Amino acid sequence: MQIDRHRELADKIETLKKQRNAIILAHNYQLAEIQDIADFLGDSLELSQKAAQTDAAVIVFCGVHFMAETASILCPDKIVLLPDMNADCPMANMINAEQLREVKKSHPGALVVTYVNSTAEVKAESDYCCTSGNALKVVDKLKDTGDIIFVPDKYLGCFVSMKTGKNMILWPGYCPTHIKILPEDIMQLRENKPDAVVMVHPECHSEVARLSDVVLSTGGMLKYPAQSDAEEFIVGTETGLVYRLQKLYPHKKFFPATERALCPNMKMITLEKVLASLQSTSPVVKVHDRLREKAITPVQRMLEIV
Ligand code: 13P
Ligand code: SF4
Repeated sequence: MQIDRHRELADKIETLKKQRNAIILAHNYQLAEIQDIADFLGDSLELSQKAAQTDAAVIVFCGVHFMAETASILCPDKIVLLPDMNADCPMANMINAEQLREVKKSHPGALVVTYVNSTAEVKAESDYCCTSGNALKVVDKLKDTGDIIFVPDKYLGCFVSMKTGKNMILWPGYCPTHIKILPEDIMQLRENKPDAVVMVHPECHSEVARLSDVVLSTGGMLKYPAQSDAEEFIVGTETGLVYRLQKLYPHKKFFPATERALCPNMKMITLEKVLASLQSTSPVVKVHDRLREKAITPVQRMLEIV
């Protein structure tokens, strides 16, 4: 019954998508039925790259607000739709531009590296943006410069600082979903599945990262099993990734580190909302020119360092 409903909606979306010259970009944490209709699925870096390259007139962003904003910064002439405006990343709202200006005042001369999970106004106050997929490379490139202020994710910042040996000034932001993955979850699963490889996202608590085998972005986790002989994997990130991993590697087994790691914002996008969004060409996410002019340089630098 639900499968029929999904198919009916997917058919309507497909027809309308062609009429509107639209492309559907979806993050790896989206609901299974959204993943199934996406023209392109990826992590934050891959989605930004795709948005920058597409010839489509309309981008339907199945993700959260900062992702649609980044697409708007990169493609000012395109219509960027976010099917539910309430789909927002709580971590992105843990720092605002005024707070970042205060940190900059306290550390004159320091460069600001901002995680892409941030608002456009915070990006506009930054020197570089990065994603979890290239944060190490971005900071490595700046290793011999002065201090680095890193916002907003303290756990990603801590991981990058440890790996690059660069002392960084961290903002105390965090992802409410990833901190639900506890060290106890990893220890318990290691006991139950001693042969499984533990992959975790750098937004996880530092102790969880320390207990893992590899720390990777969602895009990295999707590639890793191809180069590993292991048959079983513990997936330390939002549970939506397990669907995609299992589809990509049907002969391997994937277990979420915990079912608690569910991002309610990522699950707000439904087929009904995608269809309604294409029908009404709304809600539109548009970064205004004055802000865009300041935010584009750090975002483009992010795309250049891969
Ligand atoms: P990725 O860029 O690794 O997909 O991460 C995005 C995100 O929001 C993680 O919570
Ligand atoms: Fe934001 Fe965390 Fe959800 Fe990613 S998983 S969108 S960082 S709240």
